[in-house]
Amino acid sequence: MLHGRSAETARIDELLAAARDGRSGVLVIRGEAGVGKTALLDYAAAAAGMRVLRGTGIESEAELPFAALQLLLRPGLGLLDLLPPPQARALRGAFGLAGTPEAPGADRFLIGLAALSLLSELAGDGALLCLIDDAHWLDRASADALLFAARRLESEGVVLLIVAREDGFDAPGLPELPLGRLGREASRALLAERAPGLPPGLADRVLAEADGNPLALFELSVALSGASGLPVTLAASPEFPAPLPLPRRLQQTYYRQVAALPAPTRTFLLVAAAEETGGQGQSLTAEPGALAEIARVRAWVAMERGAMHRVHELVVAGAEPIAGSDPMTAAALLRLGAVAGWWAGDAKLVQDAADRMTGLGRSELIPGPGALQAMADLLAGRPAAAVPRLAEVVAAVRQSRPEQLAVRFYAANMALLIGDFDSARDLMLSTARACRTQGVIRFLARSRSSA
Ligand SMILES: Nc1ncnc2c1ncn2[C@@H]1O[C@H](COP(=O)(O)OP(=O)(O)OP(=O)(O)O)[C@@H](O)[C@H]1O
Ligand SMILES: [Mg+2]
Repeated sequence: MLHGRSAETARIDELLAAARDGRSGVLVIRGEAGVGKTALLDYAAAAAGMRVLRGTGIESEAELPFAALQLLLRPGLGLLDLLPPPQARALRGAFGLAGTPEAPGADRFLIGLAALSLLSELAGDGALLCLIDDAHWLDRASADALLFAARRLESEGVVLLIVAREDGFDAPGLPELPLGRLGREASRALLAERAPGLPPGLADRVLAEADGNPLALFELSVALSGASGLPVTLAASPEFPAPLPLPRRLQQTYYRQVAALPAPTRTFLLVAAAEETGGQGQSLTAEPGALAEIARVRAWVAMERGAMHRVHELVVAGAEPIAGSDPMTAAALLRLGAVAGWWAGDAKLVQDAADRMTGLGRSELIPGPGALQAMADLLAGRPAAAVPRLAEVVAAVRQSRPEQLAVRFYAANMALLIGDFDSARDLMLSTARACRTQGVIRFLARSRSSA
């Protein structure tokens, strides 16, 4: 049973209902490894009550043109003769069923059309659910043909559900649904269902470690309740928790994610892992400060990957629980969220960070909510109020040269925004100088605690 996915399943149900009335629909569902993408496809297949076609990207076949399309459309090859001859010829050529046809450019168009026609034939008088898993591993040629067909679906009664990880599959022009992690309640319910015997202390730890990722919840609880040989009482001990065993599929999942990051980010992760305050002792107790620290590191990693909305999500989740106890750190996280919103060009994200910072109720913050509000105003096309406000922040920081390097760094960015290159250069140089004398690692640690 699926926990915490009522909005997503409702969206799928709507698409299925529309298809039964002859209206086609497409949805690209995107989320991190283990978050439950395949589980949603399974849900759709079970709920469909119509013909189902399943295809998937396969990592080892990602370089083989049309491998994935062939796998998907195999059940329809007997219907090829119903297609207009040029389309049937093109598809036969692509699948190695006939000699290579004409010009490659013309092929791509015809093959896309043929895919569309074949889906329509497969739907016949009824409806068709077409499921594509792991689209990030589709070979380029198959992805192009599918996207071509997807953009032209109308009244065939076809539902095309595509799931992919965050990177590696661009689907311009198609509706997307981001699949986030499970909330606390859904996570608890999943755990209670899959690992009913887990002692409460241990369940809390698994919940904190898995952080709403269903695969992690599932695999960690299996590892703990079974063969690992880990003394359960030790793992659950709040003072001295033993490391949780990391099951193989999880290890591979994390390894893949880490291996795909740029070298400096991997170094950064190493530093974070080695750093005392980010270490296991604290993070495993789900102490809000430690979770905020983890959120910060994750946010930087997401930023490095260009996933700005994810950065915002992470910093908000990290800042909320510490808003009362540690407003300075919460503010530092929210600033990062505002920067992510800025880079995403999304005024709403910046505005949200500004509002949350206002909610902290601290007037002494620099840059404070006013500065974030100004960034939101700039993005929303209201420069008149924004520029003077940012100029004030820049001037104040330039004059007072606060100890906290992160504040100088943010002010430098604000100077750039308003075209005050002289201040930007001055603030950047002074930050760089301080980094040289203090060491970058110390700067990272300080920017967290004091920004
Ligand atoms: N909402 C949920 N409720 C209950 N179980 C879930 C839920 N989401 C996922 N699961 C379970 O969690 C595990 C991982 O989910 P799934 O395989 O669907 O992830 P995924 O996003 O497809 O991962 P990958 O990117 O590695 O393919 C599976 O055992 C699945 O059944
Ligand atoms: Mg999957």
